[in-house]
Amino acid sequence: MRVIAIDGPAASGKSSTAQAVARRLGWAHLDSGALYRAITLAVLDNLGNNEEGAKGKGGGWGPQRIIALTEDLPVRLVLAGAVFRPEVAGVDVAEAIRSERVTRRVSEIAAIPEVRHWVNVRQREAALDYPQGVVVEGRDIGTVVFPDAPLKVFLTASPEERARRRLAQRGGAGGAGLSDRTDPDELRRETEALAARDHADSNRAVAPLRAAPDAILLDTTDLPLEEQVQRVVALAQKRFSG
Ligand code: CDP
Repeated sequence: MRVIAIDGPAASGKSSTAQAVARRLGWAHLDSGALYRAITLAVLDNLGNNEEGAKGKGGGWGPQRIIALTEDLPVRLVLAGAVFRPEVAGVDVAEAIRSERVTRRVSEIAAIPEVRHWVNVRQREAALDYPQGVVVEGRDIGTVVFPDAPLKVFLTASPEERARRRLAQRGGAGGAGLSDRTDPDELRRETEALAARDHADSNRAVAPLRAAPDAILLDTTDLPLEEQVQRVVALAQKRFSG
């Protein structure tokens, strides 16, 4: 199986690492979070906000309605070049899924077992579409989706550093020098929002965020992206040679 699983909490550097590693190896890149986000976007746009009923288990939306919606619209991952892009009803939603309203509700949707099952089936199908190899990123890739992946990497970084990266991403500042200009209140709010999502993702009953026992742990707090990428590429070359 030519799969590299990259797991870790929000803003730990999964996406940039997975993208760069895939490009360097000539493999495809699949972001499983994008599929959870695309379903969340579809639900919010078609089934309403459901602020009251959704507490805990996805409540009033109901798993059957969500799955029927994702099938009917449909929500899909479409291979464009070597990147799987999220689509809702034939429209590319790569940008729309990054909105605050999606981010705020995605962990609720991702905690629903039927949704996870649906997403996992799509991911395994997608991997078959790209036999050269696929770098898959998420929360449960090494533990649940591809437990036999020959290379599993679990990225971590301090909560503050992750919040800083997220703000830099949003402001398009690329990170450098950001700490001087960041409003401490904004940084605190972002740290809290990430912590809440980490907590929800780590404590849910199904497929909680967790490193697989055979995953290689990489703390990226003080690691430049280039070095992070090189380490994973080197591991991949060793694992997949021959
Ligand atoms: O990019 P960011 O790190 O903010 O998150 P993401 O990878 O886009 O994932 C968004 C949300 O989807 C996460 O907070 C999880 O609730 C859920 N997710 C998941 O449960 N399992 C995955 N394999 C990937 C994402």
